[in-house]
Amino acid sequence: VRVAVLISGRGSNMVALAEAARDPSFPAEIVLVLSNDPGAEGLARAAALGIPTRAIDHRSYPDRATFDAAIDMALREAGADLICLAGFMRILTDGFVERWAGRMLNIHPSLLPLFKGTHTHAQALAAGVRLHGCTVHFVVPELDAGPIVAQAAVPVHEGDDPDSLAARVIVQERRLYPKALALVAGRRARLDGGRVVIDDPP
Ligand code: GRF
Repeated sequence: VRVAVLISGRGSNMVALAEAARDPSFPAEIVLVLSNDPGAEGLARAAALGIPTRAIDHRSYPDRATFDAAIDMALREAGADLICLAGFMRILTDGFVERWAGRMLNIHPSLLPLFKGTHTHAQALAAGVRLHGCTVHFVVPELDAGPIVAQAAVPVHEGDDPDSLAARVIVQERRLYPKALALVAGRRARLDGGRVVIDDPP
């Protein structure tokens, strides 16, 4: 399964996916890393790993639809079967999301459906939750609302601030995303209506 990873920044989740995909038994290969920001640090990290990269600068496009069309073209040129959003900070148009329905994953730094949107760690602290974490889900037009593939939880410690909590969550993200991608690429996680069904390992 040919996977394109879309990033906007550091790309630490992308690196975790790329490193997992190096294992010959991993059911997917990363064929492209694409960023909306030409300056994204993750582009250099992908290149260092020998992965083809593209920068499609959203500021060069008059509107979201033409930007998304450029992304779609790059994905098709790369022969991508599946998209992993990993720290990708652009809202994709409904048309694009529907074209990739069932073939686009995202990782969100909270236990969805809690704390959608941004500043999730500050939201968790403000809510006083004792458990926080991250979620890999299929992308649907509604933001942070798609069928959940996998989650990982972390405890919230006394004295945590958003940075200390983020640091604990990101460790789990890097572990969770490769596992979730393997389930989907290995066709062990499949969409059944609005939910994900996980088949037990053979
Ligand atoms: C991570 O917290 C991820 O959950 C969110 O963006 C942050 C940065 O990710 N989507 P990365 O280091 O760029 O992969």
